[in-house]
Amino acid sequence: MSVTLRVWRQAGPGSAGKFVEYQAANLSPNMSLLEMLDVVNDDLEKRGEDPIAFAHDCREGICGTCSLVIDGKPHGPHQGVASCQTYMRSFADGATIVIEPFRAKPFPVIKDLISDRSAFDQIQQAGGFISVRTGACCDANAIPVPKPVADLAMDAAACIGCGACVAACKNASAMLFVSAKVSQLGLLPQGQPERDTRVLNMVSKMDELGFGNCTNQYECSAACPKLISHDFIARMNRDYIGALFRSSLQPASNAGAGGAG
Ligand code: FES
Repeated sequence: MSVTLRVWRQAGPGSAGKFVEYQAANLSPNMSLLEMLDVVNDDLEKRGEDPIAFAHDCREGICGTCSLVIDGKPHGPHQGVASCQTYMRSFADGATIVIEPFRAKPFPVIKDLISDRSAFDQIQQAGGFISVRTGACCDANAIPVPKPVADLAMDAAACIGCGACVAACKNASAMLFVSAKVSQLGLLPQGQPERDTRVLNMVSKMDELGFGNCTNQYECSAACPKLISHDFIARMNRDYIGALFRSSLQPASNAGAGGAG
């Protein structure tokens, strides 16, 4: 099969970008979109031209690196898959495919299709961890967790931090990502000591970095390659209000440092 590509090319963060058209021929429908870009890049390199910069790692839908907007949709036409799991058979022979980076103010473009999503790392560092002892492993059943709660925590933990939720949201809200990270720890017993400080610090960092607020568009969960539910945003909001209330009851020197109470 053959396709026409309209690819966003941008030399660097400070440069103006533009769409450039490429023809890609002799493609197998069973190639992934990233393999197709590899073929295009081989041709560009043979001609001495600058290959298209795009980010990828696992190519198995688990690392969240391959953040592309394909035909206007973060991660492309299918629900519940990452860009690297999008195959050429998803497109008609002769189709024109438009490929752009994730666009949001807190995700500046580094080059071509690669955007800087380290803002997510900063949010994680603000509180997305637990302080359990790191000694020998305890017995698996030493801390009982009800099965429905464990399942819900695992649903939240499926977030791969790709940023599709931000790219899909008209407000560039990171609330689906942050709510998944808050919930995966806040639901479990090991996550209780920092439950309040976690949600307060992560939400505050999210705001500081320029992400917008949720206005219930649900585009985030529609674009999420791991189908994270927007219900986690409601859960995070409840946690946040509770944490604010509890921190206001504490002595000033200790405010915001308490457990779930
Ligand atoms: S390359 Fe890992 S999720 Fe796509």
